[in-house]
Amino acid sequence: MQLLKTDDATPQLPSLDPAVDPFQLFAGWLREAEDAEVNDANAMALATVGPDGLPDVRMVLLKGFDRDGFVFYTNSESRKGGQLAGNMQAAGALHWKSLRRQVRFRGPVEFATEAEADAYFASRARDSRIGAWASRQSRTLADRSLLEAAVARETDRFDGREVPRPPRWKGYRVRPLYLEFWVDRPFRLHHRLVYRRDGVRDDWQTELLQP
Ligand SMILES: Cc1cc2nc3c(=O)[nH]c(=O)nc-3n(C[C@H](O)[C@H](O)[C@H](O)COP(=O)(O)O)c2cc1C
Repeated sequence: MQLLKTDDATPQLPSLDPAVDPFQLFAGWLREAEDAEVNDANAMALATVGPDGLPDVRMVLLKGFDRDGFVFYTNSESRKGGQLAGNMQAAGALHWKSLRRQVRFRGPVEFATEAEADAYFASRARDSRIGAWASRQSRTLADRSLLEAAVARETDRFDGREVPRPPRWKGYRVRPLYLEFWVDRPFRLHHRLVYRRDGVRDDWQTELLQP
């Protein structure tokens, strides 16, 4: 990947080369962010739209990415899950404060395969897997003790057994049609490199945007 070094005080600028795969560029930035950030370099704001047309946003962890898109996992019966069921489109943004960089993307969403979701779920701590059974994510909770009781119930239920993935716990893959790399520059003259395409199987077009 071609990076143009400017000076020591400012971040490196990615070159405008459509031949550079944006996911490869993203991989490099994420690696640098993992070294630079105190925690959760893979945290991203995920925006969905409700049936009333009102946007909604919350953080999720980016758990995988490749040329097919960006993958996160959640409870499909949560608020975001319901919003996605009605409108399988989303946008994401990652901001790395230490690097002064932002990546944002938007596009249609598909479910990750059951095998992918099973594999990721199996990699989680046992207590997190139990928590996924105990929590009806985004429903009201009259009292915290009810959640603790649900955790105790599920802990007993799975005693001595593997904790399988709850069917409602799913992976989602955002397949970007728009992907933007933003680099902080002096005097707000930031650098914005955009990759866009009309369909998820089309080639990328690149352009720069004014800050
Ligand atoms: C850094 C961070 C990472 C998070 N990662 C996830 C995640 O990967 N999956 C998830 O379901 N919720 C995650 N959450 C919690 C969500 O932000 C949110 O509270 C929850 O998913 C319910 O959202 P909803 O009611 O819009 O569905 C994370 C929160 C933070 C602050």
